[in-house]
Amino acid sequence: MMAGMDRRAVMAMGLGMIVVGCGGGGSSSSGPIAGGTPTPSPTPSPTPTPTPTPTPSPTGSLAAAAAAKGLRFGSTFAWASPGADAGSFNNPNYAALLETDCNLLVPENELKWEALRPSASTFNFARADEMVAYAEARRMKIRGHTLLWYVGERFPGWLRTYDFGPNPRLEAERLVRTHIETVIRHYGSRINDWDVVNEAVNPSTGTIRTDNSLAQAVGGDTSLLDLAFRTARTELPTAELLYNDYMDWGSTTHRNGVLNLLRGFRDRNVPVDTLGIQSHIGFYSSGSAQSIVDAQVPAMRAFLDEVVALGYKLKITEFDVNDRQRAGSIAQRDADAAVLTRGWMDLLLSYRQLNEVLVWGMSDRYSWLQSFAGPRADGTPLRPCPYDANFAAKPMRQAILESLEAAPARGG
Ligand code: XIL
Repeated sequence: MMAGMDRRAVMAMGLGMIVVGCGGGGSSSSGPIAGGTPTPSPTPSPTPTPTPTPTPSPTGSLAAAAAAKGLRFGSTFAWASPGADAGSFNNPNYAALLETDCNLLVPENELKWEALRPSASTFNFARADEMVAYAEARRMKIRGHTLLWYVGERFPGWLRTYDFGPNPRLEAERLVRTHIETVIRHYGSRINDWDVVNEAVNPSTGTIRTDNSLAQAVGGDTSLLDLAFRTARTELPTAELLYNDYMDWGSTTHRNGVLNLLRGFRDRNVPVDTLGIQSHIGFYSSGSAQSIVDAQVPAMRAFLDEVVALGYKLKITEFDVNDRQRAGSIAQRDADAAVLTRGWMDLLLSYRQLNEVLVWGMSDRYSWLQSFAGPRADGTPLRPCPYDANFAAKPMRQAILESLEAAPARGG
């Protein structure tokens, strides 16, 4: 990461937020992409890959390796109709990866306001219900993502232009409370961990975001965030409640902003259990992969030490590696990404307060980064996930496995 620069700014830099279809159909089931740009129609791949048979895992299962240490391993997954070429439980190629390696799943978009709440007064749980049922039938845990994504461009259209009436604060509180009560009551303890608030810190300033209609209705303070956690706790007293944010190699400004927010939650007695470390890491500087790790680890470790000293638990919630800017052959890029992965996992897993590792997609074929960050200058797809676009395991998967095997066991 370039010093002082927001990761997303770096991703967007020089791209003009270009939208491309990714190889093999991309994330066509995944809803809108960054910057409020409308969902692109899937673009046919220039060199279509035949639908392959999934390659069996080379060594064991990541879930089993995690379980041996008192951890869970999982992935995001999407809803799509049967037969669609998507990162969905309805795609046998993708489901095989989930069922080999995961005991934890997170719906990629289907529990967000934009998916669940087509208008202020209506909810539609059909897709998310199918996903939860899939996980339950296979005894996999689901974590809910997310009850309040505090970024205006991620709001449903109706909420961006909502008329909050004569008492905007009261109306904003009512909307948030109603949302959280309705969603949590729908699932009850079937979903017992929630990313309650997502990305509330402005990466450029380190302060709470004010660039959304809800924040503006309350004058930009933290009251809606506090309300979200308090409502979730009332509804689900035994749940693990997360504040989730970027936390990649990261900028100091953003990290300090998150620390301030976490301290404020403690000062105000807001029931937040865990910091969700999204972990969308990547290559934002040149040099050997190990030198990138070595340069970044100390600041991240200092940050994590402060977070756990405040009494928070940790989860890796959205891991992937953005290799858009990494030169080299595919084999070299994969080897470098494995080094970054190992460095990141070893650091995070050294904290016994961390109890879950989740990747934001198992296969390069459906990674959100193909459209959000891509394309690479050489026109080839990105390789951000543990399995490639043909569902073969990559060195990244081996790095995760070895890191799990080397991790200290979590205490009871
Ligand atoms: C992304 C999904 O992967 C995309 O399909 C969607 O278009 C946009 O959202 N941080 C988060 C996730 O918290 O919800 C985002 O997921 C990725 C960044």
